[in-house]
Amino acid sequence: MPIQGPKTHAYFERAMNVIPYGVNSNFRWWGVEDTLVISKAQGAHVWDMDGNKYIDYRLAFGPIILGHSYPRVVEAVQKAITNGTLFAWTTPHEVELAERICRMTGVDMVRLTNTGTEATMHALRIARAYTKREKLIKFEGNYHGMHDYVLFSTASSDPAQMGPRSKPVNVQVSRGIPKDINQYVINLPYNDFELLEETISRQGEEIAAVIVEPTMGNTAGILPRPGWLEKIRELCDQYGIVMIMDEVKTGFRLANGGAQAYFGVKGDLATYAKSLGNGFPVAAIGGKREVMMTVKPGEFSHGGTYIGNVPGSAAAIATLDILENEPIIATIYERGQRLMDGIDAILTRADVPHKMTGLPPMFGYILGTWHDPSDFRSYMEGDEPLYERIVVEMIKRGAVTETDGREPWFMCYSHDDAVVDETLTIFEDAVKAATV
Ligand SMILES: Cc1ncc(COP(=O)(O)O)c(C=O)c1O
Repeated sequence: MPIQGPKTHAYFERAMNVIPYGVNSNFRWWGVEDTLVISKAQGAHVWDMDGNKYIDYRLAFGPIILGHSYPRVVEAVQKAITNGTLFAWTTPHEVELAERICRMTGVDMVRLTNTGTEATMHALRIARAYTKREKLIKFEGNYHGMHDYVLFSTASSDPAQMGPRSKPVNVQVSRGIPKDINQYVINLPYNDFELLEETISRQGEEIAAVIVEPTMGNTAGILPRPGWLEKIRELCDQYGIVMIMDEVKTGFRLANGGAQAYFGVKGDLATYAKSLGNGFPVAAIGGKREVMMTVKPGEFSHGGTYIGNVPGSAAAIATLDILENEPIIATIYERGQRLMDGIDAILTRADVPHKMTGLPPMFGYILGTWHDPSDFRSYMEGDEPLYERIVVEMIKRGAVTETDGREPWFMCYSHDDAVVDETLTIFEDAVKAATV
């Protein structure tokens, strides 16, 4: 049975007429009869065009940390934009926002951008300019946005094409990327200490950056093995490589200071987006003063018409103010842990082999195995069809996550205890329906 109701379907048909495949981001495509058209969102819920209400664990792929349409953020934006939205000069909002990001994350300096893609693209350019080297190391199943250099061996890739684990092959994720870009990119399995050390000891002098998601935010939230981030830090220090912590998903979510505060390891650069603006388009690159000062006008290109726009900056200031002054993240951990424990218990009662992954603000699970996945390849050995069947049954009952398990469940402050209880009831019924 298709997920779309009649009004949603009618809108999606209109969308497909004028927007290729009816979506403005290919990640939103669930098919002709299953892609939802959303009319509104509030707190922990979204409503589709047919008035169906869903508890939302996609949270727009992570940005909503407080809740949809969170009143204090909305009011701050409304107030700020009465005095204009964009000026092509520095604004007090930008200054205050940069000061807050520095204070909360421990970076020395910040340049804003609009999206995570722009943040990682510029961060890699800074790393190249700073080191005067050209290659980068990234990890299989890590996703860093839509620019050419990082569209290899992401979570959208087929592991069967990745070659042997000890000799990984870059899998290009999109058509339209010049094939020579491949030579600048080295993909390695996440959490593989030996292969990383061996690769850097051979090619360290050519490598500008190691870019890493500090938890695998695009592969079920898989955690770094103890010492993994420290190992990357140590090798980057030894070989003069810029370590880029891609905190687009983890920043202002795993802790106020992001994954770097949670794990106690700092990159030379860090990229932020998503939770920074609670759904408004705002992102940032932060880092060590010496590295950040590479962005010198006339020598280096970083820019964008909409960067530092007032609505994005005002939303981010309001969001960070709330995060700094209230126990938001601690509450998300408490409720998220209860949700994770409940899911774990339900799957155990249903005799479904599984392993929970990630941390309560951003977690997942692998089905069909009791093994703890440590990288993209091991995650992809799980039972994805069963994962999808359970999600489809959940959606019918009023709770929505991404239909494939690579995208984690995201928690926000508006998922209160009653919502968690309701979700567990829905999840248990969905598991029963999907496993008969
Ligand atoms: C870790 C990470 N980096 C970068 C990006 C790209 O961010 P954006 O979609 O804002 O361009 C994403 C998006 O999901 C991400 O998860």
